[in-house]
Amino acid sequence: MLPAPGMEKINAFCDAQTWEGELPPSTEVLLRNVADVEGIVSLLTDRIDSRLMDSAPKLRVISNCAVGFDNIDIKEATKRRIVVTNTPGVLTETTADFTFTLMMAAARRVVEADKLVRAGKWKTWGPMILLGQDVYGSTIGIIGLGRIGRAIARRARGFDMKVLYHDVVRRRDAEQELGITYTELDNLISESDFITIHTNLTEATYHLIGAPQFAKMKERCILVNTSRGPIVDNMALYDALKTGKIASAGLDVTEHEPLPADHPLLSLDNVIIAPHIASASVVTRTKMALMAADNLISVLSGRMPPNPVNPEAMKKL
Ligand code: DGY
Repeated sequence: MLPAPGMEKINAFCDAQTWEGELPPSTEVLLRNVADVEGIVSLLTDRIDSRLMDSAPKLRVISNCAVGFDNIDIKEATKRRIVVTNTPGVLTETTADFTFTLMMAAARRVVEADKLVRAGKWKTWGPMILLGQDVYGSTIGIIGLGRIGRAIARRARGFDMKVLYHDVVRRRDAEQELGITYTELDNLISESDFITIHTNLTEATYHLIGAPQFAKMKERCILVNTSRGPIVDNMALYDALKTGKIASAGLDVTEHEPLPADHPLLSLDNVIIAPHIASASVVTRTKMALMAADNLISVLSGRMPPNPVNPEAMKKL
């Protein structure tokens, strides 16, 4: 279910069938229900692969209500001239805010502090209680300097941080504008007090951060991930946190979502885990829903949508 303004727009345009369940529909349910549909509005929890596309011969558009689209087989969609769209831009600042929230909460041990107070274990002010790390004036390494990476850099400059970044392409305009420094990934990893990930999940970025990278991090390093879980090898992260190779982590995303209740990461105090909510503000989620509705309606009306992921599919229509 999308925020109401998005649903209203879709319902005013076409006959829409809505999945009301709290959990995503199973593959079988999806396959059963797509035989006649021309458009799908999907969430990042919906796997849209060739099997599903085979079951939906009339499908013309997959409008993903997310900026990420690793849940969709883009190659297969393009082959079938199905246009895939996403919701970039509107969630940038909200996601950057939450990335900073996780970073500061991990650095200043906010969740541990709250637990201590609620458990009635706080006896008195003490000079050694819950000592954390300073964010102000430290070094941050940003992996992936897209929209969200840049929004993080702007915030970091406000905290007088030294900002390093790594991307597949060097962004000289951003270096000038934001006063930030490009560096190789290995150097970013070994020099940063905070490392934050803002890259897409692809074959190349799967487990980009694993045991060899943790081995190079500073002991006081804090890792933040609000992009996609599988970019970080979660068991290697567990090891690094458990053995003190790094100080702590703030995760909005994990390799499996949700993590199983007995996952070792959940046994650690030096990791904060949020349920994939970095873009979850009322205003932003409403904008995402409206954008997803506009993208859907555009393609079904024969127009190039505002946010195509594979515009070449549209040209072939
Ligand atoms: C996205 O849009 O890809 C986020 O993960 C959810 O907002």
